[in-house]
Amino acid sequence: MRVTISTIQKMKARGQRIPALTAYDFLTARLVDAAGVPLVLVGDSLGMVFLGYETTIPVRLSDVLHHTKAVTRGCENALVIADMPFMTYHISEEQALENAALLIQEGGAHAVKLEGGRHMAPTVKRLVQCGIPVMGHIGLTPQSVHQLGGFKVQGKSVEQAQRLLDDAQALQDAGAFAIVLECVPAELSRIITARLQIPTIGIGAGPDCDGEIQVISDLLGLVTDFVPKHTKHYAQLADEIRSALDRYVADVAARAFPTEQQSFSIDPDVLARLVAEDVGPGEIR
Ligand code: KIV
Repeated sequence: MRVTISTIQKMKARGQRIPALTAYDFLTARLVDAAGVPLVLVGDSLGMVFLGYETTIPVRLSDVLHHTKAVTRGCENALVIADMPFMTYHISEEQALENAALLIQEGGAHAVKLEGGRHMAPTVKRLVQCGIPVMGHIGLTPQSVHQLGGFKVQGKSVEQAQRLLDDAQALQDAGAFAIVLECVPAELSRIITARLQIPTIGIGAGPDCDGEIQVISDLLGLVTDFVPKHTKHYAQLADEIRSALDRYVADVAARAFPTEQQSFSIDPDVLARLVAEDVGPGEIR
């Protein structure tokens, strides 16, 4: 049965933890959905892990839309959230509404996510009033990486922590159904989580959020050149893939692949005619 925003909110009320993951393609989405993950995010992290950008800033709405279509085709049960990329919701509430509507209507997403606290609350309110569920995202907001001066933990001073508490409250008041807390000290996440009625979904935010989200390529060990402190490798897929590719290259070079097992054959009579009569390719029946 399809997970809805009320399923997610009931999970918080029951004290049931909420696992969430990113996915960017059909096959991965199908695996994540089959594993029973209730929240699947088509994150703009796709720019860094799938498209090779250094930040999420170059990601376009068309990129997220394209990947959202693939992910929604792969998810039978999960609630699919499409991330709104940099500058696709900042210019005006109307711009945000138009772009969010595209992700829902054409992409098939069930909700959108956008970064920012109090200053984004009116936009969140407008989208929610129009029937679009919104997930907030505060703390380290990667689209503001240049303003933040790098990918840094947020909320370490009293002023910053108070700002994050106010941001979380403003997003809840605006109607957000959940909030991502990214790279926030664990103690602060605990306080925010206790104060909110809506679920907090952490990444680098300690063990006391209502749920946890991870970037799937981090979790599966596909990215090995930089491993963020907040991630854990549940598989070593980069090593597996490297080893498989080495074996494939060696097998092809040594004529050990393909073998008869992977080949197709023609009827021996056809073959005999072909050899005996020197029949041209178009004449074989
Ligand atoms: O883009 C993304 O993957 C995200 C998660 C890290 C929350 O925003």
